[in-house]
Amino acid sequence: MQTAIVISYPPVLPAPMIPRNRNDRMLTLLGIESSCDDTAAAVVRVAESGASVLASVVHGQTDLHAPFGGVVPEIAARAHAEKIDTCVIQALADAGLTLSDIDAIAVTAGPGLIGGVLSGVMCAKGLSVATGLPLIGVNHLAGHALTPRLTDSLAFPYLMLLVSGGHCQFLMVHGPQSFTRLGGTIDDAPGEAFDKAARLLGLPQPGGPAIEAAAKSGDAKRFRLPRPMLDRPDCDFSFSGLKTAILRARDTLVTSQGGLYRQDVADLAAGFQAAIADVLAEKTRRALTRYLQEAPPEPALAVAGGVAANQTIRAALESVSAEKGVRFTAPPLRLCTDNAAMIAYAGAELFALGQTDDLTLSARPRWPLDTAASPMLGSGKKGAKA
Ligand code: KG4
Ligand code: ZN
Repeated sequence: MQTAIVISYPPVLPAPMIPRNRNDRMLTLLGIESSCDDTAAAVVRVAESGASVLASVVHGQTDLHAPFGGVVPEIAARAHAEKIDTCVIQALADAGLTLSDIDAIAVTAGPGLIGGVLSGVMCAKGLSVATGLPLIGVNHLAGHALTPRLTDSLAFPYLMLLVSGGHCQFLMVHGPQSFTRLGGTIDDAPGEAFDKAARLLGLPQPGGPAIEAAAKSGDAKRFRLPRPMLDRPDCDFSFSGLKTAILRARDTLVTSQGGLYRQDVADLAAGFQAAIADVLAEKTRRALTRYLQEAPPEPALAVAGGVAANQTIRAALESVSAEKGVRFTAPPLRLCTDNAAMIAYAGAELFALGQTDDLTLSARPRWPLDTAASPMLGSGKKGAKA
């Protein structure tokens, strides 16, 4: 007679391992990220003396999505599932380590495109079951928000401005699990606006660097472009009207002169970039005023996301920080844009606080960091802005 095999789910896991490096208070984490269009794995080591990125592998999907003008969730999920294990293997090899040197596995559990997040979460669960290593689900936005602690050892609380193709929000970072959202976009993210404006002007993608390059020879004052939402006292943004303003100015020129001269494109690019920089700077001024009311002992503003690469925007934010007497930091671009080192690092902060997850960890398409804040309206070409 055959004996029935009963499989209970979730299976009972061994108790979370004591970090094997606890004697010298050192933790080594494997991080996995797959929430949008980058498949990434990284190894980060956190010691008392500071944190270091031992390896960071990012496999982008830009080429796969380029023909569609935005990220296609099904294509993204399939590509993550195909590449995720090779990214993990590569990250371990680059770090010169094996899984037996790892203390815990951190994975993005949201927010993001559900198929992609699932790929990462399933991979991390598989590794956790196979090795007995603790599993830690990390909020992708917390990964971005905690990066200045990895790169610059910023003390809590600091103010973070997250500006990319998919995100746009001010976060007051009080601790690894404590965030206050002071404002965000109600429609497009700024990177998304750069990309759309570039398309309207016949410039290549990604639009941000293309507009920045074109703007160098442009006159930012030739076209009167709006500064949206500055009439409102809050820290929220709206960028979709700027894109419409570019469309109108372009069409007026095309109607009157039959096309766009190179100088027209440069002037429109410069005007657009100046408008975004002005709005970001003024809203940052307001967010800093609110942040400073908390009397932070070491006041600091950190900016992250692909748009932080823009020199005009960076200079505007630096000058507002100086005006307010606040330290300004921007992590290196490879850690500003989506990566797994930020997930591993955020995982280390959570692990140190005793947070681990079991196999019931689920992928969350929406996962606001500040649950008390009202939901953002924008959903954008890269998915929910949470
Ligand atoms: O953080 P990121 O690499 O990816 C996600 O959005 O997830 O940001 C990419 C965005 C793109 O929209 C790109 O146009 C914008 O950042 N970007 C820039 C610059 N470099 C990249 N925007 C303005 N100026 C730049 N130099
Ligand atoms: Zn991101």
